[in-house]
Amino acid sequence: MTFDPRLIGELRQIVGEAQVLTERDLTERYRGDWTGRFIANSTVVVRPADTEQVAGVIRACADHGQAVVPQGGNTGLVGGSVPLSGEVVISTERLVGVEDASGRTGHLTALAGTPLTAVQAAARELGWEYAVDLAARDSATIGGTIATNAGGLRVARYGDTRAQVVGVEVVTGSGEVISDLGGTLRNNIGYHLPSLLTGSEGTLGVLTSARVRLVPHFAQRATALMRFDVRSDAPENAEALHRLLPDVESIEVFFGEGLELVASVFDLPTPFSTVDGGYLLVEVADNRDPLPTLTDASAALSGVGDVAVAQNSTASSKLWRYRELHTEAIATLGAVHKLDVAVPPGSLAEFMARVPDVVNALAPTAQTWLFGHGGESAVHVNVTGIDADDHNVDDAVLELVAEMNGSISAEHGIGRAKLPLIGLARSEAELRVLGGVKAAFDPSGIMNPYVLLPRSDRSPSDTPT
Ligand code: FAD
Ligand code: MLT
Ligand code: ZN
Repeated sequence: MTFDPRLIGELRQIVGEAQVLTERDLTERYRGDWTGRFIANSTVVVRPADTEQVAGVIRACADHGQAVVPQGGNTGLVGGSVPLSGEVVISTERLVGVEDASGRTGHLTALAGTPLTAVQAAARELGWEYAVDLAARDSATIGGTIATNAGGLRVARYGDTRAQVVGVEVVTGSGEVISDLGGTLRNNIGYHLPSLLTGSEGTLGVLTSARVRLVPHFAQRATALMRFDVRSDAPENAEALHRLLPDVESIEVFFGEGLELVASVFDLPTPFSTVDGGYLLVEVADNRDPLPTLTDASAALSGVGDVAVAQNSTASSKLWRYRELHTEAIATLGAVHKLDVAVPPGSLAEFMARVPDVVNALAPTAQTWLFGHGGESAVHVNVTGIDADDHNVDDAVLELVAEMNGSISAEHGIGRAKLPLIGLARSEAELRVLGGVKAAFDPSGIMNPYVLLPRSDRSPSDTPT
């Protein structure tokens, strides 16, 4: 892939010589994704220092018809941040910092490249919490989590990222800056730009800042790991827990084979003498001791075989490892087909029981790993033991999801990985309208043109180099 040397020169003028990377070894970490499934041969990486520089970079790229891909922490799991088709990477790693934070209002503004952990820490310093949490918290950025509308581990109580974002600043595909960082909570003047930008996967513009609402910090927290002898009891009870624990923060589900893999890869003791069966990891937080309510709820569930509880952060982290380390443990098995889906409430147990048969009918030696956010009937179907390029299993699982009226993306987005299947989730009319939105933000079609929307649904048609 060759890039126009005149464009490289212009980019260097805008951000400085040292902030335009072209050498293979320097661009390596920007070229491949976390899963190792999407790796580009070459790229140019631009690292702007502020919104004005981002706008200059986009205007220069638009003038040259050069496609770009915004990149935050590069932890996305659908290949949306990788320059596979000759895009220039606009990295947000120099856009870091928290501004305008208020303990009185419980709002803060963060620059797009700020890691999630830094936003969480800033919230805690104000006596609040930032609601979004996920295992990639050290690397994932606030901009990336907004661009993907990340879900994570506390959606049961607070909703996904979209529910937290009250304002954004974005540089559109034509290089215009739209800044809506006021953070008004009641804002009824038509289309809501922060909601539109959330989940846009870098296809409308580069987010440079965001204003988010914070949630109260609770003084006490309790975590329970429950094991069920009968696998299907775990997903059945996951959905029932909302009624018993209205303020529950996390209801996470996994199975014995996943726990065994995590324990073996990370050399951890298993929590109970029996490993088989289904598991729920449940966390509640309150200003009064939440343990009695959690214990009562666990006693009210049918089929609980073993329970371990934790009431301090060290003991709780030990229980969370069995759930959070699934992603990394499964990644040690080679190419992973990651299908992040959701089914309507009430269907989780049926879906989890049917998926392995659907996989093995096509790939008898493949292994299916199921875990996820049981409280929202959201499942990560991970399949190992098949070629990275073999899409038959992916298609069959996602067709089952569609047949059960589910969603082909619960939280990771569409990216490149799921684009061929967008027709399962969006009608032609929806794609036409969404293509029109894309064209309004990005008239020359340079913003991440190979993800989220099929190219033929756009107007005008883009021809990135
Ligand atoms: P990137 O990977 O860099 O980019 C992701 C997408 O956002 C790309 O399309 C990119 O172009 C776009 N983008 C990035 N920054 C900007 C910006 N400033 N402006 C416009 N577009 C931008 N996800 C969940 O939802 N829930 C989980 O529980 C979860 N757990 C994870 C656990 C692990 C171990 C890993 C590796 C990943 C996990 N993820 C999870 C996926 C990932 O962390 C999220 O998708 C996260 O939101 C990506 O943030 P990022 O900064 O790394 O974005
Ligand atoms: C999770 O819930 O752990 C993440 O979304 C990551 C994954 O799907 O592997
Ligand atoms: Zn998840």
